[in-house]
Amino acid sequence: MKKYMVGFVLLFVMVQLSYGQTASLKNKMKDLIEDNFVFAAKQYQYLKANTPDSVMPRSYVPATGKSVTSDTKWWCSGFYPGTLWYLYAYTKDEAIKKEAEKRLGILEKEKYYTGNHDLGFMMYCSFGTAYKYTNNPAYKDVVAIAAKSLSTRYRPQIKSIQSWNSRDILKCPVIIDNMMNLELLHWVSDHGGDPVFKEIAVTHANTTIANQFRPDNSSVHVVDWDLNTGTVLKKITWQGAADSSAWSRGQTWGFYGYTMMYRFTKNKTYLAQAKKIARFLLTHPRLPSDKVPYWDFDAPGIPNVPRDASSAAIMASALLELGQYSVGAEKKEYIETAETILMSLSSEAYRAKLGQNGGFILMHSVGSLPHKSEVDAPLTYADYYFIEGLTRYKDWYLK
Ligand code: GLY
Repeated sequence: MKKYMVGFVLLFVMVQLSYGQTASLKNKMKDLIEDNFVFAAKQYQYLKANTPDSVMPRSYVPATGKSVTSDTKWWCSGFYPGTLWYLYAYTKDEAIKKEAEKRLGILEKEKYYTGNHDLGFMMYCSFGTAYKYTNNPAYKDVVAIAAKSLSTRYRPQIKSIQSWNSRDILKCPVIIDNMMNLELLHWVSDHGGDPVFKEIAVTHANTTIANQFRPDNSSVHVVDWDLNTGTVLKKITWQGAADSSAWSRGQTWGFYGYTMMYRFTKNKTYLAQAKKIARFLLTHPRLPSDKVPYWDFDAPGIPNVPRDASSAAIMASALLELGQYSVGAEKKEYIETAETILMSLSSEAYRAKLGQNGGFILMHSVGSLPHKSEVDAPLTYADYYFIEGLTRYKDWYLK
């Protein structure tokens, strides 16, 4: 009897300790989220001041102190307004809302753009996020038109959306990043739009599983197709270290993309694909302990190469969503890794100081190293997915 009593007391103490640890981690995450939103709302006043009304922020060059902006056709034009909507949702600051509305005003015309596959990034991350927090039907209408524009890039011969127009050595390129733009198509079909958009998304995702992934579950960046024969011409990289390498952001685009596909379809194949990519990422021997990837998992010179905070932010946001569809040890691993990433990105190793970094939140991302473009620089999408990840954590794991 005494033995049982000792066992019971020990169990009770262990449960209390583990509850205490969980409660203290939750408090830590709550404080971290609050601190980041307060900081980001102030920091984005500098970004706003550095960005003329007719353009969007793009990056910043620390060496020269110059801000880099873009026109609204640039694939990243939706991230700044999207981040502003997340900041508004948290802070309820009317000045942030006003700035978000102003930026949507210059972006709206791109709903008719058909020059590449990036309509999802451009119009869903911006107007879709605006609709989520306002229910303004005008925003929904913009997103619906954008889905129609994106659907014009579907090529039945290859059962895929053509990501880019033919360029240089590429005839009909499909890139792994394209998985992200399927969210726009799904969302519109599920909100009263043409069901064909969703069919395109599913078909594209299936073609990508069959053609873009390697046996180790990493993905190739670009698959180039022959539209006459419907066959693959080549598999190469555009932004990675080598055709055979695992370009970090590409891995995280695919990871986020298949997690999102499962959200819309509940098709177990997509869940399995997301988990396979998660395994590739989380067990990779060259994923650093702070969980912020080098710009390419196979970059020559690791560890003396730039990190890519944008990949980390995308991975954290996707891990939090995958955690929603998982149980037990797997769920725990996904959420704990996302926590590590969010803590790393919130530290002074990655988060800028107020008024510095051109007004961007995060430092140390890589746009395209082979093109010597935006290397070790701030990027709008690093900020966007970081703030989205913090929002997801607050909404899903602090309630
Ligand atoms: N092409 C989008 C990216 O650089 O990730």
